[in-house]
Amino acid sequence: MSRDISRRTFLGRSALGAAAALLPVTLVNVVFGQKKGGAAQKAKAAGDKTDFTFAYISDAHIQQISGNKFVRNWDQGLKRAVAEANLLIPRPDFVMFGGDLGQLGKKEELDHGAEIMSACKYKTHYVMGEHDFYLDMGACWEKLFGKQYYSFDHKGVHFIVLNSILTYDSWNKKWPSAMERMVQMAGLDNPLGSPFMVGEAQRKWLAADLAKVDKNVPVILFSHSPIQKIYKGWNFWTEDAEKVQALLKPFKKVTVIYGHVHQIQYNQIGNISFNSVMATAWPWPYPQSYALAKSSLPVLTVPMNRADPFFERDATGWQFIDVNSGKVAANYLLTDNENRTVKYNRKTGRPEDVKYQNKRTAAQEHY
Ligand SMILES: [Fe+2]
Ligand SMILES: [Fe+2]
Repeated sequence: MSRDISRRTFLGRSALGAAAALLPVTLVNVVFGQKKGGAAQKAKAAGDKTDFTFAYISDAHIQQISGNKFVRNWDQGLKRAVAEANLLIPRPDFVMFGGDLGQLGKKEELDHGAEIMSACKYKTHYVMGEHDFYLDMGACWEKLFGKQYYSFDHKGVHFIVLNSILTYDSWNKKWPSAMERMVQMAGLDNPLGSPFMVGEAQRKWLAADLAKVDKNVPVILFSHSPIQKIYKGWNFWTEDAEKVQALLKPFKKVTVIYGHVHQIQYNQIGNISFNSVMATAWPWPYPQSYALAKSSLPVLTVPMNRADPFFERDATGWQFIDVNSGKVAANYLLTDNENRTVKYNRKTGRPEDVKYQNKRTAAQEHY
């Protein structure tokens, strides 16, 4: 589907005044396009295959200063995203939170983040981020939100949530304290960090979970790190990405949606569409725009692109992802930056940004 859908379409008229700024929430529209009129009503009544939307909020990085003092900017980003999600019309069926709720995984941060999220009117599912995990290996997060990986079915779609930010046991054990381990993993370009992975136990669980699903059923998978290898130096990377992709390969329509990268990314690998969601906290620069990344970036099937790789507010804004039977399109309304539209090109079998695809900026040419 390539219709141009604006954020305005999904906000109630009364809500528009209150939500004048572009607030960081992603709306995902799942379109089957199979049933219309009475058939759609019947399907709805039966609780299966009808078009629906869900909202996505990610990477809040709630950070404690001391006691009950938290970094206001990050609090505000999350509060605004929740407020915007609550104003969406039609109402999303549920909300996903994409990970990195806290900054250093502290109980105070996760409790405070959960409290802000509790203002959300909808059922909310959570994905584990590395900033939530490496202080106590997910113990506090589990108490608040439940299992670290799980699946559920909704209106004819099979949803999977993975914890993709695990790493080697040897790395976990090498630090003198839990906080030291957390701080080392929290750095974006820290060479002392360790690659993320889904791991064997979870892949085994995933294989068993997928064995029960018909190959024609659309699958939407949520992870924190991308289940593809973009840039190892910054852990925009999942070490066993190919093994997870192989498990998803038999399915006709697969969409992977992830946070962590705090920037716009989309890609198509075989049957799998990849879309990042933007952060409520801050945007990361693109690896291409970073001198150390020279020659390190693998060739993506869909090249990354952006209006201005050095613009600090890029990748915080409103985003719409249209999952039309696995053919994903996306619209981005960026804070103080040129908007972007990515459309699925049926001829090439890829999503494409008609304006920026293959067009490198002067800054990118520098590298
Ligand atoms: Fe993050
Ligand atoms: Fe992250």
